[in-house]
Amino acid sequence: MKPLSRAALAALLTGVSATALTAQIVEPTAPPAPPAFPAQGEPNFVTRDAIATYRSLPEYHQPAFMDAFVEAGDLPPVEERLPDEPMVYEVSNMTDGIGVYGDVMRHVIGGRPEGWNYWAGQTQGWGGIDIAMSECLTRTGPLFQIEPDDLEPLPNLARGWEWSEDGMSLTVHLIEGAKWSDGDPFDAEDVMFYWDHTIMDPNVTPLNAASPETFGEGTTLSRVDDYTVRFDFTTERPERVLYSMAYGDFCPGPSHILAPMHPANNPDMSYDDYRNAFPPDYMNFPVMGAWSPVEYRPDDVIVLRRNPYYWKVDSDGNQLPYLNELQYRLSTWADRDVQAVAGTGDFSNLEQAENFVESLRRAAEDDAPARLEFGPRIIGYTLYPNLSGNGWGNPDTRGQAVRELNRNLDFRQGVTQVIDRQRLGDSLVKGPFTAQYPGGLYAGTSYYDEGSTVFYPYSLESARAHFEAAGLEDTDGNGFYNWPEGSPAGTGDVQITLLTNTDYQTDRNLAEGVIAMMEEAGLKLSLNALTANDRDAAVSAGRYDWRVERNASDLITVVQNTAQLAPTGPRTSASHYANDAGELDLLPFEEEMVEAVEGFIATNDPEARSELMKTYQQLYTDNLYGIGLTQYPGALVINKRFRNVAPGVPIYAYNWAEDSVIRERLFVPEEDQIGAELYEGALPGEPGGEGPVTAGD
Ligand code: GLA
Repeated sequence: MKPLSRAALAALLTGVSATALTAQIVEPTAPPAPPAFPAQGEPNFVTRDAIATYRSLPEYHQPAFMDAFVEAGDLPPVEERLPDEPMVYEVSNMTDGIGVYGDVMRHVIGGRPEGWNYWAGQTQGWGGIDIAMSECLTRTGPLFQIEPDDLEPLPNLARGWEWSEDGMSLTVHLIEGAKWSDGDPFDAEDVMFYWDHTIMDPNVTPLNAASPETFGEGTTLSRVDDYTVRFDFTTERPERVLYSMAYGDFCPGPSHILAPMHPANNPDMSYDDYRNAFPPDYMNFPVMGAWSPVEYRPDDVIVLRRNPYYWKVDSDGNQLPYLNELQYRLSTWADRDVQAVAGTGDFSNLEQAENFVESLRRAAEDDAPARLEFGPRIIGYTLYPNLSGNGWGNPDTRGQAVRELNRNLDFRQGVTQVIDRQRLGDSLVKGPFTAQYPGGLYAGTSYYDEGSTVFYPYSLESARAHFEAAGLEDTDGNGFYNWPEGSPAGTGDVQITLLTNTDYQTDRNLAEGVIAMMEEAGLKLSLNALTANDRDAAVSAGRYDWRVERNASDLITVVQNTAQLAPTGPRTSASHYANDAGELDLLPFEEEMVEAVEGFIATNDPEARSELMKTYQQLYTDNLYGIGLTQYPGALVINKRFRNVAPGVPIYAYNWAEDSVIRERLFVPEEDQIGAELYEGALPGEPGGEGPVTAGD
């Protein structure tokens, strides 16, 4: 107990010593300029229809091994398996031209599959397994190479769309005659099941958390005919809905498999039963993607074989994909880098900065098996305080006391000024890679505005002044702040838990760096390090005080997952969900952020949009909605035997590189094929059956 300093604090708070207080505060500045980083690949820009069109071709071809399936009567001939007008990849847009069949892409991942029910929130282990299996109405990954004037999502399962004259509805034309990998037709029924029983069912949250807000307040979707659906909106021409029709938000599942297990149709099933109805050992899950899972061995491997009904071809009529198999080794993300660089794996998004120097060294050698190309600085990490004050996640008294601090601007200002971003970046990798990241939109992206970005420089003295203004004091003199007077958490030291993800070394290193810096400033933290799947569950349940997280693409492109930029709905922003009663206790600046985001969503006027994003960025960085840590580039590492890898594929932009690189049209020349297919000659069998089948099985 130090009554004197309490009195001093009271004096400060009543403003008596206000000048003494402000004297210590270091005011925000413009963000420091990121170091120059020239080693970036440049895409060849094209228009959207240069990549693919929909049309029928005079003849179609399949891999030779599939002829036996047709002869045995196991499969219809290839032309009957394809739509009348399949999607056709134009050879003129393929870096190395028409490919040949065969070979495998050996992926290595750190994630683990929960099951195949993506639509009820299960992860498949990431690393692009879900991207390989699912196809969405539109596609965004390849947009990194689209001319700015033609920038709009690519058609995919939706082969076209048109707006009504008044802009209040959008008619979407689905590809006609395409089939799931088990031969069941794909049609409006699949799309409507996704809408009615995933998006609109509050008990079901798909993996990427698409919700009604994603498509705009009051939006409805209805079936027009087997191959046509129509969106009706409450605002005029919400063009960003085309982005919400892409990966993450609108990749319908097989309704013929899912609907019978959904509680809406099956009174014996609970929502939990539904979520768990397709565990990872459920084989041959029907897909619209190019490969379907045929084998799963826990902590070892997932093998996917080509989808015999895949609805895309090259302009010579060869049914895609060229690659017969994908393998996913279940290891660690760091191992993905090591193996890709060494040539025992084929693909990595080099995104953990700790591995940059070693990987670059190996890739520069003449006999390097993989090429490595850096892109822009779009990997960013943020420290997010949980901003709910009204019970989301049911915090105990300690947790609730942390929430009260989190909601105090002086406290957040203190926290941000504790962080020495230069030192934090250098602790991952030295050199021109990392930049100090104030938070919010990334420098170098289209909606970023430096003048609207508030940067709080590192200053322990200023941080302490802010903490004291937030009511904190080290009353017992042990070097750590105590809970403010009268706190229901008691009189002991403030204790904050920092949630992080053990699947990534970078997440852990940054979390440990933050903890060490907070200790220097007198704040006691403890680490809650969970595997990605457990961490994700803790976040969506609100069971955390602070979390360190690699940001998602909404902060890069803004036009994707726009509703998630702020708490625009009860469950849109992982920093602030509603409580069990559905109530959101937004802080005034959050309300303003929501207004900016909703304004952005409601207008197509480029000038208004850019102004609204400036407002958003200003509110975000000034009020520290999230506390930026570091921002750096990533590199795509891909084995040199693969052809048709377009130049300048970023590891992350509109989507992850596993989408952007267009795996279905990658190929390996015969002489370079490595003979590593585990199920040569086999195809996916019956949904839920044993595994792959050979002809005549
Ligand atoms: C994980 C990896 C990323 C990318 C995505 C794809 O998040 O860390 O590099 O592979 O999966 O879903």
